[in-house]
Amino acid sequence: MSENMIYLDRNENNYGPAPACYEVLKTADLTLLSWYTKAFERGVKSILSERIAKDFEIEESRVALGYGAEDLLKQIVQCYLGADDKLMIPSYSWWYYKKIADEVGGKNVEYPLIKGKNEFYYDVDALLKLYEQEKPKIIFISSPNNPTGNSISKDDLHLVLEATKNTIVVLDEAYVFEDDHKYVNNLLNKFDRLVVVRTFSKYFALAGVRIGYAVQGKEFSELTKFTQRYLGFNRLSEEIAIAALNSPKYYKDVASKMNEDKELFYKELNALDDFNVFKSDANFILVEINPEIKKPLKEFLLARKLSIKFMNEEVLNSHLRITLGTQEQNKLLVEAIKEFASVKI
Ligand SMILES: Cc1ncc(COP(=O)(O)O)c(C=O)c1O
Repeated sequence: MSENMIYLDRNENNYGPAPACYEVLKTADLTLLSWYTKAFERGVKSILSERIAKDFEIEESRVALGYGAEDLLKQIVQCYLGADDKLMIPSYSWWYYKKIADEVGGKNVEYPLIKGKNEFYYDVDALLKLYEQEKPKIIFISSPNNPTGNSISKDDLHLVLEATKNTIVVLDEAYVFEDDHKYVNNLLNKFDRLVVVRTFSKYFALAGVRIGYAVQGKEFSELTKFTQRYLGFNRLSEEIAIAALNSPKYYKDVASKMNEDKELFYKELNALDDFNVFKSDANFILVEINPEIKKPLKEFLLARKLSIKFMNEEVLNSHLRITLGTQEQNKLLVEAIKEFASVKI
């Protein structure tokens, strides 16, 4: 990491976790580090899976823990996708989605998203047409999606789940910026082959702790066996995660600051000629730029120690993705981009 560089390029949460998370580290009972968890004596995997099960009002056996959402997506694919089986993913998506089927000799089928003027949309008709045609083993839906920032509406999600009932649907909610359980509980009780993946990396600002979880519909006995870990998980990380879950006020404040700053980016950057900002439900925004300014803008920002992500994928190569930083960092970035635009004119 370069000194004083402001990193707004990897969708981390620069506010950092709730103070209670640091308190766990300061006051940790270090003697516990030598011992496996005793949670299994109560018939559960860990104190964290137990807590998540309580929050979502489902049996603990329907919660899987992993090293981040990345690990859980990988485990789901390893468990259910055989060689030559198909995985359906959005055409604009997190780069890892495009690699994951290949890890087991499977194949990708990409369904389109609709690109509107200032927003991307899920195209349910196109998705379901492709589903009928390709008969995938697993469908990934990312909501909010990375890097487009759009979510699937609850009605559209229902339509997809109703029409694909016998297929495993993975709803990746890594970027959900609230800690809402009720609608997930309703979906999981209705759709047996739905699994919802979440993480502590984004909303809870604990990317370095590497914890994600999957909450499952009723037909995931194979995944339950596959993800089982008889000796438990990282005891310290679990306690930090629970401290985060117990700090809703801190995280709601952060989320509302981020919402304010999204408005700042929409207003300020959309007023510039070479920039078009897409609406986002996540902690980042996608911006389409005039391709001619890509290289000079990158150099201009790096000289000011501001690192954002310039997309290189074929379908999005005149776009950049800005991870929202703190309010101070966001103001600096907006001012720097405005300065760049004024110099260029
Ligand atoms: C859409 C999406 N899902 C999942 C992840 C994985 O997050 P983690 O493994 O930190 O939980 C990422 C990481 O950026 C992501 O963009």
